[in-house]
Amino acid sequence: MRAGIVGMGRYLPEKILTNHDLEKMMDTSDEWIKTMTGIEERRIAADDENTSDMAFAAAQKAIENAGITAADIDLILVATVTPDSPFPSVSCRIQERLGAKKAAAMDVSAACAGFMYGIVTAKQFIESEVYKYVLVVGVEKLSKVTDWNDRNTAVLFGDGAGAAIIGPVSENRGILSFELGADGTGAKHLYQDEYIIMNGREVFKFAVRQMGESCINVLEKAGLTKDDVDFLIPHQANIRIMEASRQRLELPIEKMSKTVNKYGNTSAASIPISLIEDVEAGRIKEDDLIVMVGFGGGLTWGAIAMRWGK
Ligand code: UT7
Repeated sequence: MRAGIVGMGRYLPEKILTNHDLEKMMDTSDEWIKTMTGIEERRIAADDENTSDMAFAAAQKAIENAGITAADIDLILVATVTPDSPFPSVSCRIQERLGAKKAAAMDVSAACAGFMYGIVTAKQFIESEVYKYVLVVGVEKLSKVTDWNDRNTAVLFGDGAGAAIIGPVSENRGILSFELGADGTGAKHLYQDEYIIMNGREVFKFAVRQMGESCINVLEKAGLTKDDVDFLIPHQANIRIMEASRQRLELPIEKMSKTVNKYGNTSAASIPISLIEDVEAGRIKEDDLIVMVGFGGGLTWGAIAMRWGK
């Protein structure tokens, strides 16, 4: 028995904040942001639109896409560092709204690697045959913890949600291998006090090193090499960091997910949002070998090698 993704859904807020809009708010330029990060615009949630609203919208679509009902869900895991409130969890909030009455519910806090941590946790429950369907959501409303006076961070982040139903898949498909990791000594480089505080240079160096290494590690664990990879879905933090992991895998540019230009860094939501867009656009096909890799505050990281399809 192997676990895989059997349905997905995403939600992005309507409001678009462009680099040109930011030029009017702070001392920055479209040119700097595009060159240094690859970001052109990002989505910003409405004032009355909270993390759980976005998680709920994405989850509803994932449930429908999987062809199951909310009553079939055994566990809800919401990866977020921007919950509506410390408690109840976003997972409990959407459990009620979805009507997922039998589901246990908890949030996962692993910043931008949160979706990787959520999927790997789901996999354990499914492959041990304790649960059949786990809803994993990556969701953030980073705009509420962004210091709009700090140009070092304010230009980077966006809001959004991506959801997946993890369940049993046919032989040879699903999650082949994974790696999760953490280094608490790096906590000082990226954290939230009232707002996000970041040492960009240090996070950049860590991300370039770790993303490449984790990709190679999950391939080795699965008995595969970089020649076997059909598609790479890196955390959408910065195009230069993403490019470094693509080059490590020696993949052509069209084999890497890219949504950072239109959504910015949506933390835990970035990998599922990108994955869905590549599947919907036909860039990822049945039986493709995909590698997902994320890194973030904590410091944390996670990677998964997966054979796509139910
Ligand atoms: O999900 C994980 C979250 N975090 C990340 O992924 C962040 C990883 N780090 C990065 O992506 C990069 O470090 C940044 C894109 C944030 C910055 O790039 P950098 O090459 O590390 O530049 P820097 O911070 O050293 O800044 C270079 C210059 C500085 O000016 P001086 O001192 O050379 O005159 C900054 O003040 O760029 C300036 N700068 C800006 N200029 C215009 C910093 N932010 C801006 C801005 N607009 N928004």
